[in-house]
Amino acid sequence: MKLWGGRFTNREDEIMEKFNTSLPVDYRLYHEDIVGSLAHVTMLVHCDLLTPEEGELLVNGLQSILIDIESGDLKVEGEYEDIHSFVEMNLTERVGETGKKLHTARSRNDQVAVDMRLYAKNKASEVCDSLQLLIDSLNKKAAENNVIMPGYTHLQRAQVVTFSHHLGAYVQMFTRDKKRVENAIELMDENPLGCGALAGTTHNIDRNVTTELLGFSKPVDNFLDGVSDRDYLLELMSNFSITMMHLSRLSEELIIWSSQEFNFIKMADAYSTGSSIMPQKKNPDAAELIRGKTGRVYGSLFSLLTTMKGLPLAYNKDMQEDKEQFFDSLDTVMDCLEIMAKMIETLHVNEDNMKAAIKAGFLNATEVADYLVSKGTAFRDAHGIVGLLIIYCEKENKAIEDLTIDEFAKFSDQIGSDIYPYIDYENIITKGNKGLLKK
Ligand code: ARG
Repeated sequence: MKLWGGRFTNREDEIMEKFNTSLPVDYRLYHEDIVGSLAHVTMLVHCDLLTPEEGELLVNGLQSILIDIESGDLKVEGEYEDIHSFVEMNLTERVGETGKKLHTARSRNDQVAVDMRLYAKNKASEVCDSLQLLIDSLNKKAAENNVIMPGYTHLQRAQVVTFSHHLGAYVQMFTRDKKRVENAIELMDENPLGCGALAGTTHNIDRNVTTELLGFSKPVDNFLDGVSDRDYLLELMSNFSITMMHLSRLSEELIIWSSQEFNFIKMADAYSTGSSIMPQKKNPDAAELIRGKTGRVYGSLFSLLTTMKGLPLAYNKDMQEDKEQFFDSLDTVMDCLEIMAKMIETLHVNEDNMKAAIKAGFLNATEVADYLVSKGTAFRDAHGIVGLLIIYCEKENKAIEDLTIDEFAKFSDQIGSDIYPYIDYENIITKGNKGLLKK
């Protein structure tokens, strides 16, 4: 079942057919393919390249195919070369000879280009919606848990922060991710239909008609570029990779925080699994899978970048490989965003353990130095004084705030009893550090 048998005398080898077909992958484009063809037919009628009767016949036929696919009456399968062949051949079967006029002034090269743009545009805005849902669940969890916790650098306890502020950092990342995808949508919003195989067409078509019908902002400016460009997919896949990197960092923290060593959070049973041998185990599998799947999204990006890098203009069959990579990257990021939002929504915060970790980690040492600076000590000197104080605390097994004024006096004569409120953890957050920029 070929669209191009004319100049061939022998049939394609069976293994070549199997190697060449993209239907098992591009069946997903059936909706965009039919919508693109409907716009194309309307344009052909508008430009007197088809009669209104022919147009109506084709439109009805295409719509009936769409209805049958969506109801499950027509399965998108069989020995067709691709989704475009599937739709066109089914159309001709339904409407007869007129079906053969559908492809007037069109090539599969601009057809597949428009299908993928439409598909990618729609799906990219679904990714934005999923990012927003995750942002919402992070904001909600942050508002419900404005509790103090240790902040880390080098995974060593550093200064006191709040759980809200920590989650708020991810809100910023995912908000930028969303903006990046929105920018990519704006950049790719051009109609490649009408570019033909590579050089447009001698038929007097009007690309503005399909541009408007399909909801693009303008037709592409260059025919060769219109059928060759896949950088809009690469841009989305780069954006998905960045989102996965953010999801993976958050996963890593959830994994660490739910370990018994930290015990800062408890993950819901719904997103954990057990061990087949160790009855006590509860493992953070969902977070680990997100961290793991980040690799395949990066992989898809590099796979398509590598596929594209040596291709001369314009269309080359290599580009058929774009779909598997893009679809896998898209599916993965969508699944991971959904799971992450649910994991965040359902996790429990162990406030007391976070507080205990602060107490044990000298997280107010920087503020002791700041206190000394406020009393006139140079910061570098203050840093040295507090260093000695920490050695003393470690030896005595005491937190800084548990030292008496007499003990403080061994290190500096500038320390008065006003040090205690100055280095109180809650005060550090609410009175200093710009209240961690909140409320
Ligand atoms: N299945 C093809 C693809 O995805 C459709 C375009 C085929 N064009 C061609 N000249 N063979 O790239």
